[in-house]
Amino acid sequence: MPSIRQTRRRFLSNGLAVSGGLALGSTSRTGFAAMQAVGAAKASAATQDITGKNSLKAHAARKKLLIGAAVEAQLLNSDAGVAKIVTDQFSILVAENSMKVGPMRPRPTAYSFEAGDALVAFGDAHGIKVRGHNLCWHAQLPTWFNSYVTKDNAKQVLTDHIAVVAGHYKGKLHSWDVVNEAIQVSDNMPGGMRNGPWYKVLPDFIPIAFQAARAADPNVLLTYNDYGIETDSDGDTKKRAAILELVRGMQANKVPIDAVGIQSHIHTSWTADNAKGFREWMATLRGMGLKLFATELDINDDTMNTDDPAEIDAAVSKVYHDYIDMLMNEPAVEAVITWGVTDAHTWLAGRRPTGPRPPGMRPAGQGGQPGAPAGAPAAPPPAQAQVLPPPANGADVQPPGPPPGQAALHRAPERPLLFGADNNPKSAFFAMRDSIDRRKV
Ligand code: XIL
Repeated sequence: MPSIRQTRRRFLSNGLAVSGGLALGSTSRTGFAAMQAVGAAKASAATQDITGKNSLKAHAARKKLLIGAAVEAQLLNSDAGVAKIVTDQFSILVAENSMKVGPMRPRPTAYSFEAGDALVAFGDAHGIKVRGHNLCWHAQLPTWFNSYVTKDNAKQVLTDHIAVVAGHYKGKLHSWDVVNEAIQVSDNMPGGMRNGPWYKVLPDFIPIAFQAARAADPNVLLTYNDYGIETDSDGDTKKRAAILELVRGMQANKVPIDAVGIQSHIHTSWTADNAKGFREWMATLRGMGLKLFATELDINDDTMNTDDPAEIDAAVSKVYHDYIDMLMNEPAVEAVITWGVTDAHTWLAGRRPTGPRPPGMRPAGQGGQPGAPAGAPAAPPPAQAQVLPPPANGADVQPPGPPPGQAALHRAPERPLLFGADNNPKSAFFAMRDSIDRRKV
């Protein structure tokens, strides 16, 4: 009988072979191999011990890396399965929503610390660090923001918020996302600034926020966090350049900043070949003394022309393999955090395109379904991405759509994380752990 390790290796190489087949245009036979691979994964994942020295956090610690996830204390308290994954696997946590300005400050003078405090208490109890997300963002603002905040009081509102919230958590957090997503080059503002609600009333809000954060908590790592920077597409390249200029300007003006957060909401179409400029940018930031954190990693399978979970898992784990390999080659990367714990709770859930499948959509399972003959070539993507239904909460936040020139195609639930909805590790978990192991320290 093969050892567990051999079984897993065999499974992983199957998975990679399958995703290679995808690139060439899948056939029903590769679909079948993928099903077998998933079957093997289920069997081996369910039987092998991934705790203790086999956990992600143990592997990561050997490579001087923090590994974590976004989660809410409420979920940790209500779902023992998720709580077990978190305590077994992660060395850092971040609140998915509860420390944002809207949830944190229901009225201009009232603050709501319960959920954040509960997460910090959970971290304390289990030796897990917590990072703060976030002190200043254009989205998930309080309902009172627009009627209350003016050019005259904006600076006070922002600095009060940071003094109170970062002050409350002083000495308790690993890092704060001080400013989130302030760059949006297509808004055509100076410096690539997003023409958002803070910018409109307080164009200088970034240095003000970072200075206030440093004053409130002298030792927490101050982070600028953003998305849409992980490929060499034109848009990502321009956004990276704007962020670099922002950080350079902050350093030139002695505005404190310790780290850049790379959200890493990427797609299964991500390739290392299309990330050379991204790697150079990370190295440049390292040269400037910045730490780097991958803060919100998930791998969106929405552009895949299939509903088959085996094919999706193979493609997702291939990108975990390649993306984490790349991050592990960058010494400035000190933390990798997935945005959620299991596929059951991903923020991407419930945002599938609706309506009939596009012609040629390859169905779940081998053997085919009416209208999609086995082995049929993938249909060309429709010209326009389909409209996704609005999110359940944080209604002003939408996941980034498909990369340029690609469209959201399939209808099955998203599978973007390391653990399945059944709480079992997926091939992505092992791909990530193996990539961490390859880091040279
Ligand atoms: C998301 C949460 O995951 C959702 O639950 C909520 O509805 C909207 O916000 N970038 C960020 C995160 O910085 O705060 C967002 O989180 C995902 C995109």
